[in-house]
Amino acid sequence: MKFFLGIQGKFILIASLCIAIFASCGGYLIIQREKKLYTEQIIRQAKSIAEISGVIFTNAMVYKELGLVDDMGLTDYLDYYVSDMLLKDPRILYLVVLDLRGKVLSHSDFREFGKTYTDPLTKESLRQKEVTVLPREFLGDYDRIDVVAPLRISTKSWGVCRIGFSLEEVRQGSLALRNEIISMVSLMLIISLLVISLLGKGFATPLVELAKAMDRITEKGDLDANYPDPGNRRDEIGRLQASFTWMIKRLHEANREKIRARDLMCQTEKMATVGSLAAGVAHEINNPLGGVILCFKNFTEGGMDAEAKKMHVEVINAGLLKIQDTVRGLLDFARKPPIEVVPTSIHVILEESLRLADSLLSKKGLIVCKELEEEMPLLRVDPGKIEQVFLNFIINAIHAMETNGTLTVSVRREQELCLIAIGDTGEGIAPDVLPRIFDPFFTTKEPGKGTGLGLAVCKSIIEQHGGSIVVESQLDKGTTFIIELPLAGQ
Ligand SMILES: Nc1ncnc2c1ncn2[C@@H]1O[C@H](COP(=O)(O)OP(=O)(O)OP(=O)(O)O)[C@@H](O)[C@H]1O
Ligand SMILES: [Mg+2]
Repeated sequence: MKFFLGIQGKFILIASLCIAIFASCGGYLIIQREKKLYTEQIIRQAKSIAEISGVIFTNAMVYKELGLVDDMGLTDYLDYYVSDMLLKDPRILYLVVLDLRGKVLSHSDFREFGKTYTDPLTKESLRQKEVTVLPREFLGDYDRIDVVAPLRISTKSWGVCRIGFSLEEVRQGSLALRNEIISMVSLMLIISLLVISLLGKGFATPLVELAKAMDRITEKGDLDANYPDPGNRRDEIGRLQASFTWMIKRLHEANREKIRARDLMCQTEKMATVGSLAAGVAHEINNPLGGVILCFKNFTEGGMDAEAKKMHVEVINAGLLKIQDTVRGLLDFARKPPIEVVPTSIHVILEESLRLADSLLSKKGLIVCKELEEEMPLLRVDPGKIEQVFLNFIINAIHAMETNGTLTVSVRREQELCLIAIGDTGEGIAPDVLPRIFDPFFTTKEPGKGTGLGLAVCKSIIEQHGGSIVVESQLDKGTTFIIELPLAGQ
């Protein structure tokens, strides 16, 4: 199944993404700002410690100049202060006192005592005339800052004291802050997601229900299911639900109207068919019956010679045969006697039908044009019935044409169908007559010349074979009947 994200899912996804992005950016900015403030604070503290230490060490140098302390005393004094400072402030990584040549006068690591530093950091330190934070390029370690305080009074200088401060506290502080922000953002995200899901559900549920209802209507045309109730909701969704319910009601009513109209039409059509059928039967039976009754009347009056009697009996016989013909035709049409299918060559039946109509064709001087596709499989049809159909179409065509007309018969295959076309160059059928030609008893022929059952019976037989009939006609140009029979047969 294809994954599909609904409106509620999309709403939650977009909202959570926005919250996550904004919270992360906000958190990052806060951490950077805090880090900067903390570092600046440590730099300020480091500078003041360096300044105080510088003053204390300068004093010690002055005492020594004045001869108040000797070299030993100075060293002890410096060492005492250095170790005291280290104990008091754990952020101090090292403290060193250097003379003007870079010689170590005192160091928090006593092993360094007496060494002379010539490294770039020391050279840079000795150049400073006031308390300075050494630039970072001199530091290998970025987790500390180095502050230098010169030991000087006016132009007299004794050296510098340099203090290394650890920035570990800043790192720890920002790490803790980052963790706090992450936990806070996660908590916020969870709470927001819960709130958004609840809100989203409130918005999306009616829309989802409407969409489902719409699907039911478009897929199954189901207008009777329970549709969402708009309730008292007055916002856009409520209005949408109300409009939907109104639309469904209208559709319901329209549907009911349609069914009523269709039933009425069916009823009217049935009545019309029964009416025309009855009229047709009455007409077809009435005419010969009139002749029969008249003959009987003449008989009962008497005074007839043998010749007249014979003629009257013949008229009565012909009239009764005509009535029998009409009744048989009607019964055939109504009962639809079952067909008996056998594999049959359509070409053979068509040739046989043409042979039967030959005398009529030649009497009118009509030309027959045949276009028969040779590769045509045998069709499972009732040969007698199909011959009756072909003959009916051929005779109708002959009746429709004047002398020198052309009767065209063609057989061709189209996909799974065998198409038999019987066309003429006759009078054609008027557009208002065309829809009625398959109605039983519909005829345009003079009384007594046609029953109007021919095409109705043809249609019924072709439908029994699973086929259909198409008519194409143009007034004064001609008519073509195309019979479509399935190749697979019945
Ligand atoms: N080839 C045709 N050209 C013109 N009109 C036709 C043609 N075939 C049928 N029709 C019209 O269709 C009507 C109905 O034809 P149908 O064969 O059912 O009855 P019919 O020929 O009138 O009488 P019958 O029962 O003797 O065949 C005809 O009266 C005629 O008006
Ligand atoms: Mg006919």
